[in-house]
Amino acid sequence: MTVSVDSTTSATANGPVPATDSVTDSASGSVSGAEVLRPHAEDAFADELAALGAQDDRPRPARWKLSPWAVATYLLGGTLPDGTVITPKYVGPRRIVEVAVTTLATDRALLLLGVPGTAKTWVSEHLAAAVSGDSTLLVQGTAGTPEEAIRYGWNYAQLLAHGPSRDALVPSPVMRAMSEGMTARVEELTRIPADVQDTLITILSEKTLPIPELGQEVQGVRGFNLIATANDRDRGVNDLSSALRRRFNTVVLPLPESADAEVDIVARRVDQLGTSLELPTGPEGFDEIRRVVTVFRELRDGVTTDGRTKVKSPSGTLSTAEAISVVTNGLALAAHFGDGVLRPGDVAAGILGAVVRDPAADRVIWQEYLEAVVRERDGWKDFYRACREVSA
Ligand SMILES: Nc1ncnc2c1ncn2[C@@H]1O[C@H](COP(=O)(O)OP(=O)(O)OP(=O)(O)O)[C@@H](O)[C@H]1O
Ligand SMILES: [Mg+2]
Repeated sequence: MTVSVDSTTSATANGPVPATDSVTDSASGSVSGAEVLRPHAEDAFADELAALGAQDDRPRPARWKLSPWAVATYLLGGTLPDGTVITPKYVGPRRIVEVAVTTLATDRALLLLGVPGTAKTWVSEHLAAAVSGDSTLLVQGTAGTPEEAIRYGWNYAQLLAHGPSRDALVPSPVMRAMSEGMTARVEELTRIPADVQDTLITILSEKTLPIPELGQEVQGVRGFNLIATANDRDRGVNDLSSALRRRFNTVVLPLPESADAEVDIVARRVDQLGTSLELPTGPEGFDEIRRVVTVFRELRDGVTTDGRTKVKSPSGTLSTAEAISVVTNGLALAAHFGDGVLRPGDVAAGILGAVVRDPAADRVIWQEYLEAVVRERDGWKDFYRACREVSA
């Protein structure tokens, strides 16, 4: 027997959530007011999604809100026939986005793989928002993720009072996505213990989720698919079994190919974040953004931009994501304790914090880089001084 899951049940995989005013009812998708710190992608970009939906005349797969072409345009940006500008969410090779979107229209699930900070989570959220209009059907993978988080749990009060029944069952986000034909998301798949990961095999290959306690099953309906993210650096922690890997199309998200591309990404995201944090953003801080990106890239690559000087790489990742947070913190410093313009002194401490993760080895690497590279560079005197000050 096949059952459908009641989409109005407000519950998480870990238990039911009382539908009080202070809790956003994630099942119904309602967001309470403008006070939300970080709106979901489908709310933050509701206007763009609506404009795309209105002007998209290409065929849409079953239950998709947009055609694959419109989903790719939503991610990569563009201008619609009526002049509506769609902002780029992901900056990177177009082909990668096209392959990712196409995968979601097939019977294979999508695995986004890459080093930390390459926008795996970000892309997964925006894909789910554009395809299904809902990015909240999310399972966060950790070493302690239980099978119930992927399958279903029980409301124990109901279970004890009335025995196992549909009413006592608490569907997981994956189960809801299956019964409603939506996109489910699993974050950090390789951190989940291998036996729990394998729960996904039946779901992805048979598109069914048995409920032996009730003698029932939930069958995936058209439109259901799943996006998982996994970190390159976690490889070997809980490697994906080959059985599970076969159910996924893997798309590797690369680090930005050039410094210009990376500066562009950081500037864009800082601008968006700065606006939502009510920080002044402007073109004046551009030099500092370029500097942060240059320092991170050189330390990451182990060689200076001109290719002349070898430098040692510290233990931290120094990803684009970290550059974004260093610059955002710098902007906050400039806004609250400076004149509102991002200056070397505002980013120096942030850079130091990101580079020196291991207090002994990384500090030596940083000092060497400071003296051999930063000190000698034209136009970097202020920056060198600011770094010296916080490194002392
Ligand atoms: N190529 C890119 N285009 C647009 N934004 C990017 C890009 N690379 C990084 N970012 C930004 O970096 C931030 C962090 O990305 P995200 O958290 O998705 O990384 P991640 O790959 O999931 O990292 P982790 O492995 O640590 O989970 C986001 O705000 C995102 O906008
Ligand atoms: Mg992530």
